[in-house]
Amino acid sequence: GAPLTVLGLESSCDDTAAAVVRVDGTGEAEILSSVVFGQAELHSAFGGVVPEIAARAHAEKLDICVEEALKRADLRLSGVDAIAVTAGPGLIGGVLSGVMCAKGLAAGAGLPLVGVNHLAGHALTPRLTDRVEYPYLMLLVSGGHCQLLIVRGAQDFSRLGGTIDDAPGEAFDKVARLLGLPQPGGPSVEREAAKGDVGRFRFPRPLLDRPGCDMSFSGLKTAVLRARDQIVADKGGLTRADRADLCAGFQAAVADVLAEKTRRALAVYAEEAGAVPVLAVAGGVAANAAIRGKLETVSAEFETKFVAPPLRLCTDNAAMIAYAGAELFAAGIRDDMTLAARPRWPL
Ligand code: KG4
Ligand code: ZN
Repeated sequence: GAPLTVLGLESSCDDTAAAVVRVDGTGEAEILSSVVFGQAELHSAFGGVVPEIAARAHAEKLDICVEEALKRADLRLSGVDAIAVTAGPGLIGGVLSGVMCAKGLAAGAGLPLVGVNHLAGHALTPRLTDRVEYPYLMLLVSGGHCQLLIVRGAQDFSRLGGTIDDAPGEAFDKVARLLGLPQPGGPSVEREAAKGDVGRFRFPRPLLDRPGCDMSFSGLKTAVLRARDQIVADKGGLTRADRADLCAGFQAAVADVLAEKTRRALAVYAEEAGAVPVLAVAGGVAANAAIRGKLETVSAEFETKFVAPPLRLCTDNAAMIAYAGAELFAAGIRDDMTLAARPRWPL
Protein backbone atom coordinates (compact mmCIF):
# COMPACT_ATOMS: atom_id res chain seq x y z
CA GLY A 1 0.00 0.00 0.00
CA ALA A 2 0.87 3.69 -0.21
CA PRO A 3 2.38 5.47 2.79
CA LEU A 4 -0.20 6.99 5.13
CA THR A 5 0.12 10.04 7.34
CA VAL A 6 -2.45 10.18 10.11
CA LEU A 7 -3.22 12.88 12.68
CA GLY A 8 -4.48 11.33 15.93
CA LEU A 9 -6.43 12.94 18.79
CA GLU A 10 -6.84 11.54 22.32
CA SER A 11 -8.93 13.02 25.14
CA SER A 12 -10.67 10.12 26.88
CA CYS A 13 -9.25 10.58 30.37
CA ASP A 14 -6.95 13.22 31.85
CA ASP A 15 -4.45 13.72 29.04
CA THR A 16 -5.11 15.87 26.00
CA ALA A 17 -2.98 14.63 23.13
CA ALA A 18 -2.37 14.99 19.41
CA ALA A 19 0.19 13.19 17.25
CA VAL A 20 1.18 12.61 13.66
CA VAL A 21 2.24 9.11 12.64
CA ARG A 22 3.40 7.98 9.22
CA VAL A 23 3.15 4.34 8.21
CA ASP A 24 4.93 3.28 5.04
CA GLY A 25 3.83 0.61 2.58
CA THR A 26 5.68 -2.12 4.50
CA GLY A 27 4.04 -1.32 7.84
CA GLU A 28 7.03 0.53 9.29
CA ALA A 29 5.70 3.34 11.47
CA GLU A 30 7.33 6.62 12.37
CA ILE A 31 6.07 9.03 15.00
CA LEU A 32 6.52 12.46 13.40
CA SER A 33 5.24 14.23 16.51
CA SER A 34 3.48 13.40 19.76
CA VAL A 35 2.15 16.10 22.06
CA VAL A 36 0.64 15.27 25.45
CA PHE A 37 -0.88 17.88 27.74
CA GLY A 38 -1.35 16.31 31.17
CA GLN A 39 -4.12 17.56 33.45
CA ALA A 40 -2.72 16.08 36.67
CA GLU A 41 -2.33 19.48 38.40
CA LEU A 42 -5.93 20.41 37.61
CA HIS A 43 -7.26 17.34 39.39
CA SER A 44 -4.66 16.87 42.16
CA ALA A 45 -6.63 18.84 44.78
CA PHE A 46 -9.66 16.59 44.27
CA GLY A 47 -7.94 13.22 44.71
CA GLY A 48 -9.11 11.95 41.34
CA VAL A 49 -10.08 13.00 37.83
CA VAL A 50 -13.08 15.37 37.88
CA PRO A 51 -15.01 14.73 34.63
CA GLU A 52 -16.33 18.29 34.26
CA ILE A 53 -12.91 19.85 34.74
CA ALA A 54 -11.37 17.29 32.36
CA ALA A 55 -13.92 17.97 29.61
CA ARG A 56 -13.41 21.73 29.81
CA ALA A 57 -9.61 21.41 29.75
CA HIS A 58 -9.74 19.06 26.76
CA ALA A 59 -11.98 21.50 24.86
CA GLU A 60 -9.48 24.27 25.60
CA LYS A 61 -6.31 22.33 24.84
CA LEU A 62 -7.18 20.15 21.84
CA ASP A 63 -6.72 22.87 19.21
CA ILE A 64 -3.38 23.87 20.73
CA CYS A 65 -2.20 20.23 20.79
CA VAL A 66 -3.20 19.71 17.16
CA GLU A 67 -1.45 22.87 16.05
CA GLU A 68 1.68 21.91 17.97
CA ALA A 69 1.66 18.32 16.65
CA LEU A 70 1.39 19.55 13.05
CA LYS A 71 4.11 22.15 13.61
CA ARG A 72 6.52 19.61 15.11
CA ALA A 73 5.79 17.24 12.22
CA ASP A 74 6.46 20.15 9.86
CA LEU A 75 3.10 19.57 8.17
CA ARG A 76 -0.09 21.37 7.45
CA LEU A 77 -3.47 19.70 7.76
CA SER A 78 -3.51 19.33 3.97
CA GLY A 79 -0.43 17.09 4.26
CA VAL A 80 -2.36 14.55 6.32
CA ASP A 81 -4.26 11.60 4.79
CA ALA A 82 -6.77 10.98 7.60
CA ILE A 83 -7.81 12.06 11.07
CA ALA A 84 -8.10 9.44 13.81
CA VAL A 85 -9.80 10.18 17.09
CA THR A 86 -10.54 8.24 20.28
CA ALA A 87 -14.31 7.69 20.13
CA GLY A 88 -14.44 5.78 23.45
CA PRO A 89 -14.40 4.23 25.94
CA GLY A 90 -13.77 6.98 28.49
CA LEU A 91 -15.19 10.00 30.24
CA ILE A 92 -17.93 11.09 27.90
CA GLY A 93 -17.25 14.85 28.09
CA GLY A 94 -13.62 14.40 27.07
CA VAL A 95 -14.38 11.88 24.34
CA LEU A 96 -17.04 14.25 22.97
CA SER A 97 -14.55 17.14 22.92
CA GLY A 98 -12.15 15.04 20.86
CA VAL A 99 -14.76 13.70 18.46
CA MET A 100 -16.17 17.20 17.86
CA CYS A 101 -12.71 18.64 17.28
CA ALA A 102 -11.84 15.81 14.86
CA LYS A 103 -15.11 16.26 12.96
CA GLY A 104 -14.45 19.97 12.62
CA LEU A 105 -10.94 19.37 11.29
CA ALA A 106 -12.09 16.61 8.92
CA ALA A 107 -14.98 18.65 7.56
CA GLY A 108 -12.87 21.79 7.23
CA ALA A 109 -10.02 20.09 5.39
CA GLY A 110 -12.11 17.53 3.50
CA LEU A 111 -10.25 14.65 5.19
CA PRO A 112 -11.50 11.18 6.08
CA LEU A 113 -12.30 10.49 9.72
CA VAL A 114 -11.62 7.25 11.63
CA GLY A 115 -13.00 6.60 15.12
CA VAL A 116 -10.60 4.54 17.25
CA ASN A 117 -11.26 2.49 20.38
CA HIS A 118 -8.87 3.75 23.08
CA LEU A 119 -8.17 0.17 24.18
CA ALA A 120 -7.31 -0.82 20.62
CA GLY A 121 -4.87 2.10 20.61
CA HIS A 122 -3.10 0.64 23.66
CA ALA A 123 -3.37 -2.92 22.35
CA LEU A 124 -1.79 -2.10 18.95
CA THR A 125 1.08 -0.06 20.41
CA PRO A 126 3.58 -2.99 20.22
CA ARG A 127 3.05 -2.96 16.45
CA LEU A 128 3.83 0.75 16.32
CA THR A 129 6.98 0.40 18.42
CA ASP A 130 8.25 -3.09 17.56
CA ARG A 131 6.33 -4.24 14.49
CA VAL A 132 4.99 -7.23 16.42
CA GLU A 133 3.14 -9.59 14.06
CA TYR A 134 -0.38 -10.86 14.70
CA PRO A 135 -1.36 -12.79 16.73
CA TYR A 136 0.17 -11.85 20.08
CA LEU A 137 -0.86 -11.88 23.73
CA MET A 138 -1.52 -8.44 25.16
CA LEU A 139 -1.70 -7.63 28.84
CA LEU A 140 -3.46 -4.28 28.89
CA VAL A 141 -3.14 -2.73 32.35
CA SER A 142 -4.14 0.86 32.98
CA GLY A 143 -6.07 3.07 35.36
CA GLY A 144 -9.39 1.97 33.94
CA HIS A 145 -8.68 -1.39 32.36
CA CYS A 146 -7.14 -4.77 32.91
CA GLN A 147 -7.46 -7.46 30.28
CA LEU A 148 -5.56 -10.30 28.71
CA LEU A 149 -6.23 -10.27 24.98
CA ILE A 150 -5.21 -12.30 21.99
CA VAL A 151 -4.72 -9.64 19.32
CA ARG A 152 -5.32 -11.09 15.87
CA GLY A 153 -6.02 -7.90 13.92
CA ALA A 154 -6.79 -4.21 14.33
CA GLN A 155 -10.42 -5.18 14.98
CA ASP A 156 -9.96 -8.77 16.05
CA PHE A 157 -9.46 -9.31 19.76
CA SER A 158 -10.32 -12.27 22.00
CA ARG A 159 -10.48 -11.65 25.71
CA LEU A 160 -9.03 -14.45 27.85
CA GLY A 161 -9.70 -12.72 31.16
CA GLY A 162 -9.49 -9.50 33.10
CA THR A 163 -10.31 -7.80 36.35
CA ILE A 164 -13.68 -8.45 37.94
CA ASP A 165 -13.46 -5.22 39.98
CA ASP A 166 -10.79 -2.50 40.10
CA ALA A 167 -8.15 -2.01 37.43
CA PRO A 168 -4.58 -2.27 38.79
CA GLY A 169 -3.86 1.42 38.09
CA GLU A 170 -6.96 2.33 40.06
CA ALA A 171 -5.68 0.19 42.93
CA PHE A 172 -2.28 1.95 42.78
CA ASP A 173 -4.08 5.31 42.81
CA LYS A 174 -6.26 4.33 45.79
CA VAL A 175 -3.33 2.94 47.77
CA ALA A 176 -1.43 6.19 47.13
CA ARG A 177 -4.42 8.15 48.39
CA LEU A 178 -4.77 6.16 51.57
CA LEU A 179 -1.05 6.56 52.31
CA GLY A 180 -1.10 10.28 51.55
CA LEU A 181 1.08 9.98 48.45
CA PRO A 182 0.61 12.22 45.39
CA GLN A 183 -1.48 11.29 42.32
CA PRO A 184 -1.18 9.62 39.89
CA GLY A 185 -0.55 6.88 42.41
CA GLY A 186 1.38 4.41 40.25
CA PRO A 187 4.66 6.31 40.06
CA SER A 188 4.44 7.44 43.73
CA VAL A 189 3.81 3.92 45.00
CA GLU A 190 6.58 2.53 42.81
CA ARG A 191 9.02 5.14 44.15
CA GLU A 192 8.13 4.29 47.77
CA ALA A 193 8.14 0.54 47.10
CA ALA A 194 11.73 0.73 45.88
CA LYS A 195 12.76 1.84 49.41
CA GLY A 196 10.57 -0.70 51.21
CA ASP A 197 10.93 -4.17 52.67
CA VAL A 198 8.91 -6.47 50.44
CA GLY A 199 8.88 -9.23 53.08
CA ARG A 200 7.17 -7.28 55.89
CA PHE A 201 3.58 -7.47 54.62
CA ARG A 202 2.23 -10.54 52.89
CA PHE A 203 -0.91 -9.27 51.16
CA PRO A 204 -3.39 -11.66 49.50
CA ARG A 205 -3.05 -12.72 45.85
CA PRO A 206 -6.78 -12.68 44.98
CA LEU A 207 -8.23 -15.34 42.64
CA LEU A 208 -4.93 -17.19 42.22
CA ASP A 209 -6.63 -20.18 43.82
CA ARG A 210 -9.21 -20.20 41.04
CA PRO A 211 -8.69 -21.40 37.49
CA GLY A 212 -8.81 -19.04 34.53
CA CYS A 213 -7.40 -15.62 33.80
CA ASP A 214 -9.76 -13.38 35.77
CA MET A 215 -8.24 -11.07 38.38
CA SER A 216 -9.36 -8.99 41.34
CA PHE A 217 -7.65 -6.04 42.99
CA SER A 218 -10.18 -4.40 45.27
CA GLY A 219 -9.59 -6.83 48.16
CA LEU A 220 -5.88 -6.12 47.94
CA LYS A 221 -6.53 -2.41 48.34
CA THR A 222 -8.71 -3.16 51.37
CA ALA A 223 -5.93 -5.31 52.85
CA VAL A 224 -3.53 -2.36 52.57
CA LEU A 225 -6.13 -0.14 54.25
CA ARG A 226 -6.46 -2.61 57.15
CA ALA A 227 -2.70 -2.90 57.57
CA ARG A 228 -2.41 0.88 57.59
CA ASP A 229 -5.15 1.23 60.20
CA GLN A 230 -3.51 -1.43 62.36
CA ILE A 231 -0.19 0.45 62.33
CA VAL A 232 -1.95 3.71 63.13
CA ALA A 233 -3.84 2.03 66.00
CA ASP A 234 -0.63 0.51 67.38
CA LYS A 235 1.78 3.41 66.98
CA GLY A 236 -0.35 6.49 66.39
CA GLY A 237 0.85 7.10 62.83
CA LEU A 238 2.83 5.90 59.85
CA THR A 239 6.56 6.31 59.54
CA ARG A 240 8.25 6.71 56.18
CA ALA A 241 9.43 3.10 56.45
CA ASP A 242 5.88 1.86 57.15
CA ARG A 243 4.68 3.60 54.04
CA ALA A 244 7.48 2.18 51.91
CA ASP A 245 6.92 -1.34 53.27
CA LEU A 246 3.17 -1.15 52.59
CA CYS A 247 3.88 0.00 49.02
CA ALA A 248 6.43 -2.75 48.46
CA GLY A 249 4.06 -5.44 49.74
CA PHE A 250 1.16 -4.12 47.66
CA GLN A 251 3.20 -3.79 44.45
CA ALA A 252 4.60 -7.31 44.84
CA ALA A 253 1.08 -8.71 45.21
CA VAL A 254 -0.15 -6.91 42.07
CA ALA A 255 2.92 -8.08 40.15
CA ASP A 256 2.42 -11.68 41.28
CA VAL A 257 -1.25 -11.72 40.24
CA LEU A 258 -0.52 -10.18 36.84
CA ALA A 259 2.41 -12.55 36.24
CA GLU A 260 0.50 -15.70 37.23
CA LYS A 261 -2.59 -14.85 35.17
CA THR A 262 -0.39 -13.98 32.20
CA ARG A 263 1.40 -17.32 32.63
CA ARG A 264 -1.97 -19.06 32.44
CA ALA A 265 -3.05 -17.09 29.38
CA LEU A 266 0.18 -18.05 27.58
CA ALA A 267 -0.36 -21.69 28.51
CA VAL A 268 -4.01 -21.67 27.36
CA TYR A 269 -3.13 -20.05 24.07
CA ALA A 270 -0.11 -22.27 23.46
CA GLU A 271 -2.26 -25.34 24.07
CA GLU A 272 -4.89 -24.19 21.56
CA ALA A 273 -2.62 -22.78 18.89
CA GLY A 274 0.36 -25.10 19.30
CA ALA A 275 2.74 -22.13 19.50
CA VAL A 276 3.59 -19.57 22.14
CA PRO A 277 2.71 -16.01 21.11
CA VAL A 278 4.83 -12.94 21.76
CA LEU A 279 3.89 -11.34 25.09
CA ALA A 280 3.30 -7.60 24.93
CA VAL A 281 2.15 -5.09 27.55
CA ALA A 282 0.54 -1.67 27.31
CA GLY A 283 -1.32 0.81 29.51
CA GLY A 284 0.00 3.06 32.24
CA VAL A 285 0.70 0.28 34.75
CA ALA A 286 3.09 -1.31 32.23
CA ALA A 287 5.38 1.58 33.15
CA ASN A 288 6.04 -0.18 36.47
CA ALA A 289 9.54 -1.69 36.48
CA ALA A 290 8.74 -4.38 39.09
CA ILE A 291 5.74 -5.55 37.08
CA ARG A 292 7.71 -5.50 33.84
CA GLY A 293 10.44 -7.53 35.50
CA LYS A 294 8.00 -10.24 36.60
CA LEU A 295 6.42 -10.39 33.13
CA GLU A 296 9.85 -10.67 31.55
CA THR A 297 10.49 -13.70 33.74
CA VAL A 298 7.22 -15.25 32.59
CA SER A 299 8.05 -14.74 28.92
CA ALA A 300 11.48 -16.26 29.52
CA GLU A 301 9.83 -19.35 31.04
CA PHE A 302 7.90 -19.77 27.79
CA GLU A 303 10.92 -18.82 25.67
CA THR A 304 8.94 -16.13 23.93
CA LYS A 305 9.68 -12.49 23.23
CA PHE A 306 8.57 -9.81 25.68
CA VAL A 307 7.66 -6.44 24.21
CA ALA A 308 7.15 -3.42 26.44
CA PRO A 309 6.76 -0.09 24.65
CA PRO A 310 8.66 2.92 26.00
CA LEU A 311 6.94 4.59 28.96
CA ARG A 312 5.63 7.59 27.05
CA LEU A 313 3.81 5.19 24.71
CA CYS A 314 2.49 3.01 27.56
CA THR A 315 0.58 5.86 29.16
CA ASP A 316 -2.15 7.74 27.29
CA ASN A 317 -0.95 9.37 24.09
CA ALA A 318 -2.23 10.16 20.62
CA ALA A 319 0.48 8.37 18.63
CA MET A 320 -1.20 5.07 19.48
CA ILE A 321 -4.53 6.48 18.24
CA ALA A 322 -2.98 7.76 15.01
CA TYR A 323 -1.29 4.39 14.46
CA ALA A 324 -4.46 2.35 15.14
CA GLY A 325 -6.32 4.78 12.87
CA ALA A 326 -3.76 4.13 10.12
CA GLU A 327 -4.28 0.37 10.38
CA LEU A 328 -8.07 0.78 10.27
CA PHE A 329 -7.86 3.26 7.39
CA ALA A 330 -5.60 0.91 5.43
CA ALA A 331 -8.24 -1.80 5.97
CA GLY A 332 -10.82 0.48 4.35
CA ILE A 333 -12.55 1.65 7.52
CA ARG A 334 -14.01 5.17 7.47
CA ASP A 335 -16.36 7.08 9.74
CA ASP A 336 -18.42 10.11 8.91
CA MET A 337 -20.11 12.99 10.73
CA THR A 338 -22.38 10.51 12.51
CA LEU A 339 -19.38 9.15 14.49
CA ALA A 340 -20.58 8.91 18.10
CA ALA A 341 -18.67 9.29 21.37
CA ARG A 342 -19.09 6.10 23.38
CA PRO A 343 -18.53 6.08 27.16
CA ARG A 344 -18.52 2.26 27.06
CA TRP A 345 -17.05 0.36 24.15
CA PRO A 346 -15.73 -3.16 24.82
CA LEU A 347 -13.15 -4.45 22.37
O1 KG4 B 1 -3.00 4.11 30.40
P1 KG4 B 1 -3.12 5.26 31.33
O2 KG4 B 1 -2.25 6.46 31.09
O3 KG4 B 1 -4.60 5.80 31.40
C1 KG4 B 1 -5.72 4.97 31.37
O4 KG4 B 1 -6.11 4.51 32.48
O5 KG4 B 1 -6.27 4.74 30.26
O6 KG4 B 1 -2.87 4.69 32.80
C2 KG4 B 1 -2.89 5.51 33.94
C3 KG4 B 1 -2.74 4.62 35.16
C4 KG4 B 1 -2.89 5.36 36.47
O7 KG4 B 1 -3.75 4.63 37.32
C5 KG4 B 1 -1.47 5.35 37.03
O8 KG4 B 1 -1.40 5.36 38.45
C6 KG4 B 1 -0.91 4.08 36.46
O9 KG4 B 1 -1.45 4.01 35.15
N1 KG4 B 1 0.55 4.09 36.44
C7 KG4 B 1 1.33 3.23 37.12
C8 KG4 B 1 2.66 3.65 36.90
N2 KG4 B 1 2.65 4.75 36.08
C9 KG4 B 1 1.34 5.01 35.80
N3 KG4 B 1 1.01 2.18 37.89
C10 KG4 B 1 2.03 1.51 38.47
N4 KG4 B 1 3.33 1.85 38.32
C11 KG4 B 1 3.69 2.91 37.56
N5 KG4 B 1 4.99 3.25 37.44
ZN1 ZN C 1 -5.34 4.54 28.49
